[in-house]
Amino acid sequence: MSLDTLREAADRARANAWCPYSRYPVGAALEAEDGRIFAGCNVENAAYPSGVCAERVALGTAVAAGARRFARLVITSAAAEPTPPCGMCRQALVEFAPALDIVAITPDGRAASWSLAHLLPSPFTPSSLAHD
Ligand code: THU
Repeated sequence: MSLDTLREAADRARANAWCPYSRYPVGAALEAEDGRIFAGCNVENAAYPSGVCAERVALGTAVAAGARRFARLVITSAAAEPTPPCGMCRQALVEFAPALDIVAITPDGRAASWSLAHLLPSPFTPSSLAHD
């Protein structure tokens, strides 16, 4: 999957962001290992903590469609610098894709990339629960 295709999917979702409180629209496109793309935007709420980030909307959409293995996440926003996902989204993503490649892109095309393993070292994972 080309980076441009993922960026376009993220931007299409970003155009639908519901963010009247922050006025900071975010788009995310999650590439599954089987090639499917799942997009999300941030969805805010008048009860502020009920809002959800674009990344977790994309992840939930993917899991609901049966996808559980992911290769790459592309995030688009209007930030001056490419921005990595917030801590809560890092935790949500590590459940399914500890080695996820994450790329953030600004409107003028500046990009930065990270591994989720770098952004969230020593994560709490399913195996941390150590059920017997
Ligand atoms: N937000 C995202 O959707 N993704 C990020 O990576 C950072 C922040 C949202 C949450 C909130 O709706 C708005 O951006 C401002 O924080």
